[in-house]
Amino acid sequence: MGILGRISVIFIAVLAWYIAVRLNSTPPLPYIDPDPWWGLGEPKKSDSKIRPFKIDIPAKDVQDLQARLAQAPRLAPSLEGVNFTYGMDSTTMAVILKYWRDSYDWKKRETKLNAYPHFKTRIEGLDIHFMRASPPAGSGKTVRPLLLLHGWPGSFVEFMGILPLLTTPRADSEVVFDVICPSLPGYGFSEAAAKPGMNTLAMAQIMTKLMKRIGFEKFYVQGGDWGSGIAHDIATAFPDTLYGIHVNMVMAMTLGAQAKLMLGAFLPSGTVMDPKLEEKWYPLLTFYGITLREMGYAHLHATKPDTVGVALNSSPQGLAAYILEKFSTWTDMKYLNQKNGGLLDPDFPISLDAMLDNICVYWFTGSITSSMRLYSEFFGASSPAITMFNIPTTVPAGLAGFGNDLAVIPENLAAHKFHNIITYTNPEIGGHFAAMEVPKILADDIFIYVNIVERQMKEEQLQKTKKS
Ligand SMILES: *[C@@H]1O[C@H](CO)[C@@H](O)[C@H](O)[C@H]1NC(C)=O
Repeated sequence: MGILGRISVIFIAVLAWYIAVRLNSTPPLPYIDPDPWWGLGEPKKSDSKIRPFKIDIPAKDVQDLQARLAQAPRLAPSLEGVNFTYGMDSTTMAVILKYWRDSYDWKKRETKLNAYPHFKTRIEGLDIHFMRASPPAGSGKTVRPLLLLHGWPGSFVEFMGILPLLTTPRADSEVVFDVICPSLPGYGFSEAAAKPGMNTLAMAQIMTKLMKRIGFEKFYVQGGDWGSGIAHDIATAFPDTLYGIHVNMVMAMTLGAQAKLMLGAFLPSGTVMDPKLEEKWYPLLTFYGITLREMGYAHLHATKPDTVGVALNSSPQGLAAYILEKFSTWTDMKYLNQKNGGLLDPDFPISLDAMLDNICVYWFTGSITSSMRLYSEFFGASSPAITMFNIPTTVPAGLAGFGNDLAVIPENLAAHKFHNIITYTNPEIGGHFAAMEVPKILADDIFIYVNIVERQMKEEQLQKTKKS
């Protein structure tokens, strides 16, 4: 080997070492203002009371919605035979709007949503809403607090079906849950920030303060979508508040994990991930093509949420179309190519009533615009998101990648972020809205995971007492 050859070998070795170090380096935790003020204007003194709250939409608001729904919708006829590939189909929309106007009864649905007690409390200048579902007293089980976090375009409504499963004691579990189900700031009945910067990390801090105020110093957190992102940030920035984190949709990939994902495109099958998951990622160009096709909404939210917000907050028809299209495609991408996007199929996994409940929460609270701003805060230039992604956590993690979710990150890549994975599962049935689609499967996954964490905690306790 000539001198040039030797130099280049050394150069490549140094470069590889440098890249490896960079990919594995952990950035410091971003600064978090412990006491920010998100309300209007200057900080004001506010009490820390927890006030009972009942959903009771004023009659004039319900009549206003009825009047808007009574107007003939201005639907542009869809192209022939395209189903949902161009977005919401107009014939489907007409059927749903008729149902919403003539058959759906908000007041009845409201009573159902009030089945669990609701509360509000002021944190960092904002009124934060939550619903609480507690287990029966005297079950003999360990009662653990569980913070259940929704995402976009969801709300606490997503969890109505899974709450009874989480709060009912079961023979195969030592644990049962006292569930706190908040509305994220700017979503539903929680007040929106009046100032920029309400990203997932800021929400993570608000949620830990909420749990502390209710009386829970330590808890489990569960979430999908943004709820998962916020759970990630709690586990990363406030790990001591958690017994564990369970997510249905891993969000974070460290730079090292992303590098592996890229490499996997060139290496033999099975090198980087479980071959079952490969078809979801490779060829990467197909994955990015689908991402580009399906993520237009996110680009819009991340840049000009307030503009589209004017339209969506002025038209229940428009709002419903915008949200329902996501429920169709994110439940299972096969629905893009099916009549009615699956939404009117008797075996569609989510009931139309439940989807309309969720849409009504956005409509009556006028919160669609502020809900979309979370994307701007997360993807914006001053966001700590990328830094947070690259800081690993040792909080015991339960990861469930549902087969039809948007992206299913394999365990070995998730392991770059989560250094203490307790369970990793890939349930075949279920998509993005797992809590609504397959509440039993999700609840079982949570129970299995939590029972392992609890056994480990007990063993550690035992070891400690033996030593001392
Ligand atoms: C539209 O849906 C019908 C019925 O589900 C199906 O037969 C057809 O292939 C679909 N067309 C497209 C373009 O997705």
